[in-house]
Amino acid sequence: MDKPIMFEPYRAAAEIDVIPSYFPIPGLGILPVNAFVLNAAQPILVDTGLVPLSDEFMEKLSSVIDLTDLCWLWLTHTDQDHIGSLWRVLEAAPELRIITTYLGVGKMSLFSPLPMDRVHLLNPGQSIDVGDRILTAIKPPIYDAPETTGFYDPKSAALFSSDCFGALMSEPSDSAAGIGTEKLRDGMVFWATIDAPWLHLVNRTLFEKNLNSIRELSPKLVLSAHLPVASEMTEELLENLGSAPEAKPFVGPDQKALEAMLKRITG
Ligand SMILES: [Fe+2]
Ligand SMILES: [Fe+2]
Repeated sequence: MDKPIMFEPYRAAAEIDVIPSYFPIPGLGILPVNAFVLNAAQPILVDTGLVPLSDEFMEKLSSVIDLTDLCWLWLTHTDQDHIGSLWRVLEAAPELRIITTYLGVGKMSLFSPLPMDRVHLLNPGQSIDVGDRILTAIKPPIYDAPETTGFYDPKSAALFSSDCFGALMSEPSDSAAGIGTEKLRDGMVFWATIDAPWLHLVNRTLFEKNLNSIRELSPKLVLSAHLPVASEMTEELLENLGSAPEAKPFVGPDQKALEAMLKRITG
């Protein structure tokens, strides 16, 4: 894979659509980039995909829901792989409001301010009623941006975890289980060292306590922006992530390695 690719949406559960894509990272693998539609009484879009795939994203999103029906956009954080179609969605769904945090609003204001009358601030631990269920915002155990929130939906027992529980992969898969135990563990640990470069510094006891708070929620589904749907495998994901602080911290290729890489490509 040498460029980002969008795949067909699929169902993670009765009320949850996945809008999947993959982004190649040269020399490291491919990274899934998922957005989700939670078909609650007040439907929620979770993130808006990659910037370079915006046209296809809007098309795939429209195939799973009438955009004017969307009530909420849960913006897990403001990284480019989560805001790819943000402005187009805002325009196409006039009733939609954005769930984010104060820092999310602040970071967006650095380049393209959000309309404040369409923002709903929600901090970790706080909840929002979306008609037929109450969603609770959580701070995932690892993240790469301070404004990050995920959430738990008790009705579907799904945890929307933002970047957390992501994995670098070698080929696309339609489920996390389909990746295979070892590849999944290695891919998750590798991704964790990249996305949370501070992870080797954490107090192991406190980190485990943090993982235990997810364990206590015991989600049936873990829906990460960067992993195919993980159904009934929460304990495996928690164990994989629990081992990540012991992994070697990631150091990217330096100039010499880059030149060697370019030479290989250009011959
Ligand atoms: Fe991120
Ligand atoms: Fe991300």
